[in-house]
Amino acid sequence: MTPSPDSRRFPPDFQWGAATSAAQIEGAAHEDGKGPSIWDTFCAEPGRIKDGGNVDVACDHYHRFEHDVELMEWLGLNAYRFSISWPRVQPQGSGGWNEAGFAFYDRLIERLLRANIKPHITLYHWDLPQALQSAFGGWQSRQVASLFAEYAAEVARRFGDRVASIVTMNEPWCVATLGHETGQFAPGLKNRRIATQVSHHLLLAHGLATQAMRSQTSTQLGIVLNHTPAYPAEATEANRRAARLADGMDVRWYMDPLFRGCYPSDVLEHLGDDAPEIRAGDFAIIQAHLDFLGINFYTRNFISEESPSKQAPGALGFTDMGWEVFPLALTQHLVRITREYAPPPLFITENGMANADTLVNGRVADTPRVDYLRWHLEAVAKAIELGADVRGYFYWSLLDNFEWDSGYTKRFGMVHVDYLTQRRVLKDSAHWYRNFIREHAASTQGA
Ligand code: FCB
Repeated sequence: MTPSPDSRRFPPDFQWGAATSAAQIEGAAHEDGKGPSIWDTFCAEPGRIKDGGNVDVACDHYHRFEHDVELMEWLGLNAYRFSISWPRVQPQGSGGWNEAGFAFYDRLIERLLRANIKPHITLYHWDLPQALQSAFGGWQSRQVASLFAEYAAEVARRFGDRVASIVTMNEPWCVATLGHETGQFAPGLKNRRIATQVSHHLLLAHGLATQAMRSQTSTQLGIVLNHTPAYPAEATEANRRAARLADGMDVRWYMDPLFRGCYPSDVLEHLGDDAPEIRAGDFAIIQAHLDFLGINFYTRNFISEESPSKQAPGALGFTDMGWEVFPLALTQHLVRITREYAPPPLFITENGMANADTLVNGRVADTPRVDYLRWHLEAVAKAIELGADVRGYFYWSLLDNFEWDSGYTKRFGMVHVDYLTQRRVLKDSAHWYRNFIREHAASTQGA
């Protein structure tokens, strides 16, 4: 077992947080004027969600947010990342605003500020208003990118002066690829041509929203990308080529337009006729100035062209999602994107693991999660020492919650949730994280 990283290796004003998203925790799916989202629809389709679960109640955070902020206070967090449900504040995705929906986020933000916890908002964490899917085919339409910018401007106008940051999109790769190519996520389409067009519209929506928000707020604006660095299994030419293409589709497809104003040529060539339609001026919009970049990191991709079913070695184990624990990739990736893209300040906006946790006599001894956390914080500390400008870390997730197509079968939380009683129990990892944050605070006070 490797030792815990020394908390003094993180800058004094480092932000220690946890992340959640609206659809995964809020519940109250049909209350106070909220409109349906594509995830409400998707969950109702038989066979889509592993345990047949839905987001009607989830963690009931909508009614229990005060208690959930108390848990954050206990943890000693100074930052919290959550998302706004677009259909809660604008039920049709265009037209009228729902004041009751905005009032909920207003109460949450006020409560966080009273606790000295910086609110970090995400505008799109996958719960598109169903009305926009029905009317336009969702993100297939450029029109939705413009409507998103209107929604973004309204949120920025109302909350911009009280929040630490606003993120436009969470993980556009998942929305485009898992939502429209593999069909694993809402809206469940299986069409690569549509998926690439969606990815372009998501980037466009990000750019338009960023422009629109600048006139409403001076808060920090950014985007969150999920990066799963690709490693060739053995260093053969075929594996290297395959890993390079995997990197192109996952990392460069989103980084290049944002930072270089183009899509990577090798991926365009690979896509052939499935490449998206791009209009003149789109890249200038997509390249809107970013104040920070959020990276979500969970694991690596292990690529073997020669024997495609080859398993990653997993010397540090696999999580309950079957994802390899490989923290070295986090250090290497942060250093790489710093070198290749000279990005603005970075945040680890998600990092965490699902574990088959059990509650025994009021305790959850989630030792694998404590290890995962320690190893990944060590990886971040190393990256900072090697020149990556990382300003904060958000553990995914504060609470066990609705894990998309896995329903409630996967537990990512630092806090255990009993879905029958909604009782919350702090896991061992929560105790570890609290101590680590405290240690860091004590060392920086003395500095
Ligand atoms: C990320 C999502 C987040 C959560 C984690 C496990 O891709 O952003 O909502 O489901 O994975």
